[in-house]
Amino acid sequence: MPQPSYVIQPLTKEYIDVTLQLCDASMGNGYLSKDFLCSCLNNPKVFFYILLNPADNDVIGYSYNEVYNASEFWRQVKPFFPSEQHFQLPDGVCCKVATLGIKMDYRGQALAKTLLDYVMDSISRSTHIDFFVGTAWKQDDYVPIASTLDKIGFVPICILHRPWHDVAACCSYCKKKRCICDAALYIKSC
Ligand SMILES: CC(C)(COP(=O)(O)OP(=O)(O)OC[C@H]1O[C@@H](n2cnc3c(N)ncnc32)[C@H](O)[C@@H]1OP(=O)(O)O)[C@@H](O)C(=O)NCCC(=O)NCCS
Repeated sequence: MPQPSYVIQPLTKEYIDVTLQLCDASMGNGYLSKDFLCSCLNNPKVFFYILLNPADNDVIGYSYNEVYNASEFWRQVKPFFPSEQHFQLPDGVCCKVATLGIKMDYRGQALAKTLLDYVMDSISRSTHIDFFVGTAWKQDDYVPIASTLDKIGFVPICILHRPWHDVAACCSYCKKKRCICDAALYIKSC
């Protein structure tokens, strides 16, 4: 059977509602809002891509990424660091691979890797990046995106403690309105 030819493109206005549905189904209601997705369209530091199935024009995947000065990124994640930290924090410009989801019926085909490979390559070509960071959702001992990040060359550096606790969302894993899941912090140099 030939591989279906899916399309990867930046998020556009017409796909906001269906992308939001997929975000809600993947991470939990309210994790990303419609206002937030709209704001991504005109933010030069945000790279929000969608994966489309041209057969029915459905959004089957998304990837939200944001460029930061490294110092600003570290300032944001520092409150969630373990008390003892034994790694050197790099300087420069980083891109946070913030969240990514693949529609349930399309999982297990390495589409997350296909999407991330494309997105990271596009971002690296269009803007200077010194390293990528990934904040990967940890469901008790399981990190769903771990094998994908590993194949792309990310390495885990520490566990962040409940980084989404203050986000007004209902997590699809812990089911709490104030999410009690931790995150694994990954890094990949360019
Ligand atoms: C995590 C996620 C993005 C992975 O997407 P994917 O395109 O299915 O990724 P892969 O095809 O590479 O599969 C990932 C692993 O799950 C396994 N898998 C196989 N069938 C699967 C299925 N039907 N559903 C889920 N995972 C499956 C794969 O074998 C693979 O493991 P391996 O690398 O050890 O072989 C996707 O499961 C998802 O959207 N989950 C919910 C949201 C989420 O957790 N996002 C990450 C937040 S940081």
